[in-house]
Amino acid sequence: MKRIGVLTSGGDSPGMNACIRAIVKAAKANDMVAVGIYEGYKGLMEGKMEVLTTNYVDDIIESSGTILKSARSNLFKTEEGLKLAVEQANKSGIEGLIVIGGDGSFRGACDLSQYGLPVIGIPGTIDNDIAGTEYSIGADTAVNIVTDTISKIHDTARSLIVDMPRVFLVEVMGRGCGYIAITSAIAGGADYCLVPEVPYDIQRMCSHLQTRFDEGKLYSVVVVAEGVMSVNDLKKQVDAILNIDARTCVLGHLQRGGAPTAFDRLIASQMAVKAVELLLEGKTNRMVGVIASQAVDSEISTGINDKNKISEKIVRLNNILIS
Ligand code: F6P
Repeated sequence: MKRIGVLTSGGDSPGMNACIRAIVKAAKANDMVAVGIYEGYKGLMEGKMEVLTTNYVDDIIESSGTILKSARSNLFKTEEGLKLAVEQANKSGIEGLIVIGGDGSFRGACDLSQYGLPVIGIPGTIDNDIAGTEYSIGADTAVNIVTDTISKIHDTARSLIVDMPRVFLVEVMGRGCGYIAITSAIAGGADYCLVPEVPYDIQRMCSHLQTRFDEGKLYSVVVVAEGVMSVNDLKKQVDAILNIDARTCVLGHLQRGGAPTAFDRLIASQMAVKAVELLLEGKTNRMVGVIASQAVDSEISTGINDKNKISEKIVRLNNILIS
């Protein structure tokens, strides 16, 4: 194998650039050339690609986003699109492809490999909702950003002495997965957390907050995963039950920017090297993951079909810390 391609697809996540960088370096270490494909699968079909040198990628480790850009394409989901993508890869001498992205990107990778192009997937999404790995690239950075925000809200909340207790509602990303919400709620010392994976009762939550206020607490911070409900809908219910005017904060895309954490850079690099090795071993239709600090691989369908639910351990910890 002489040339391998790399593309990023779906929502960008902090650490994708570190992953691209490590792929380029691992390719070089194995006497291969890495070709960067711009704009995801769309760019692959259009032949938008160039060879990436180690000098070119040397300084990208500390930046979020993806230098290769990302895009969505309906054409790629058709037989015509898939054939076009493989044709372009062949034309450019690409013998294997590494796709960095979430479950949607993995679906595309799986389809491509059925058309004869060897493909390896690397999980890159802040949501951490992919099975087959304990962590996806970007989740740790997002959790740190949210944790930091909760601390900032604590700073102002504890300073203002008011007649009525105050409630701060913080909405965080994650689609249908509560990983970012529950881990940052624990790490940030929030008072309550709502995630899609655990049944909730707003009335019960408000009784809990009221009990704390009766004990003398002056404010509470509640973290809500976007997969549960919007913070505005939550505010309506909380205001009505507690007879207050809760403050709201939607973190949105702030969670996907800034410098990737060291952990995200490390797992991104570790998974990149493993993906290159798998291609060299002639493997295809596999995904890479990190489990117990080791780079591992499994069928790419693992990451598509199974959602990586937040662990019982984390839920139990959350239950103890909010009681
Ligand atoms: O999947 C990553 C993610 O950031 C989700 O957490 C969020 O719901 C979604 O993407 C936002 O997508 P977009 O950038 O298209 O608004």
